[in-house]
Amino acid sequence: MIIIETKNYKEMSGKASELIIDGIKRKPNLAICFATGNTPLGIYRELVKAHKKKKVSFSHVRSFNSDEYYPISRKDKNSYNYYMNKNLFDKVDIKKKNINILNGEAGDWKKECLEYEKKIRKNKIDLCILGVGRNGHIAFNEPGSSFNSKTRLIKLTYNTIKTNSRFFKDKNKVLKSALTIGIKTIINARKIILIASGKEKAIAVSKLVGRIDSKWPVSVLRRHKNLIVIIDKGAGRLLK
Ligand code: GLP
Repeated sequence: MIIIETKNYKEMSGKASELIIDGIKRKPNLAICFATGNTPLGIYRELVKAHKKKKVSFSHVRSFNSDEYYPISRKDKNSYNYYMNKNLFDKVDIKKKNINILNGEAGDWKKECLEYEKKIRKNKIDLCILGVGRNGHIAFNEPGSSFNSKTRLIKLTYNTIKTNSRFFKDKNKVLKSALTIGIKTIINARKIILIASGKEKAIAVSKLVGRIDSKWPVSVLRRHKNLIVIIDKGAGRLLK
């Protein structure tokens, strides 16, 4: 595991986006698994900027996303489909046919999850970008998730529902379940970049160097041979 501690959020985003751009330059059809939430927004801004300056092209990039609320329409402003289009896909030259994202509208979620897992296995994720929840969840793998888990439907914990309700204008619409890739799916990626910013993430980040414990899904990442952790000072404050 390589831990890079940056001065602040901006530097964290810059460092992570540099690594992504470098990856695409080495392999133009890189299979990237993207994350959502607040933390990666700075990375997406940097990637869009680099694309405008013609420093990177996404024309061969294959994209996956780690999770999506369920059930939700892809046009819903709270959906991760909407988020990805707004913050990245609509602003770069990625091809629609290369975008893979879980469908929150699927009638048969089991089929959706099986097919998604199969697609990931076939493509093999080169680079998985991950954020982390305050309770240590990665993608939407909540505490207690099996380390062998694959793509599935998950009930969100009270804490995650409460934390994520900040994104929903109408609090009655806050979703309580989601489709997520599993911990095994994540561990199978060739390389993982975990990003975290702010002191409210410090406890979760500290679990990366402690005992591996399914109560803290993030802790399993230390088993990965190619893990880069990019954090700002706040998120790293319990590491020393
Ligand atoms: C959400 C997402 C995760 C994300 C995490 C942290 O629930 N499903 O993929 O990493 O929470 O979000 P944030 O960056 O907003 O703190």
